[in-house]
Amino acid sequence: MSQTTPSKASSSDPSRRGLLKGLGVFTWACLVAAAGLGIGAVLRLVSSGEGPATPGPVDLGSPSGLAVGQARDVGAVALARDGEGYFALSLVCPHLGCRPAWHQPSGRFLCPCHGSSFALDGARLSGPAPRGLSHLALEKSPNGSLIARPGSEVAPTTRLKG
Ligand code: FES
Repeated sequence: MSQTTPSKASSSDPSRRGLLKGLGVFTWACLVAAAGLGIGAVLRLVSSGEGPATPGPVDLGSPSGLAVGQARDVGAVALARDGEGYFALSLVCPHLGCRPAWHQPSGRFLCPCHGSSFALDGARLSGPAPRGLSHLALEKSPNGSLIARPGSEVAPTTRLKG
């Protein structure tokens, strides 16, 4: 009488071996592609002789309708207004780089990542952020829009008169 034992699935099974081999090749391909992209970015920076690209001007639109004590987010920049005039703030949290947003009911900028909060003028109020939000150069374009320049930081007291 012959007795058969159920065969165990093992890595010697041709279909399973093929699957494992395919996964290994795919993983290596992903690692090589990621390394290539990283090296490519570094090479582009070195060959251009420049640091990381400075973000271009941001059109914050017309300031009309923005009351004293209010702010308006436009991407990674906020246009704000106090009794002294208009100013632009970088919405890049000085803690770890998340994007704070203006919260009108509390009159603060709130960072969604770790809870830092900032006053209308960008001053740090609470949370792990080591400092306040950066003030950016702001100018009026010929058509009346306000233009912020994310690459150029200015003193926190700088205002554009309305
Ligand atoms: S990134 Fe804003 S509080 Fe951490």
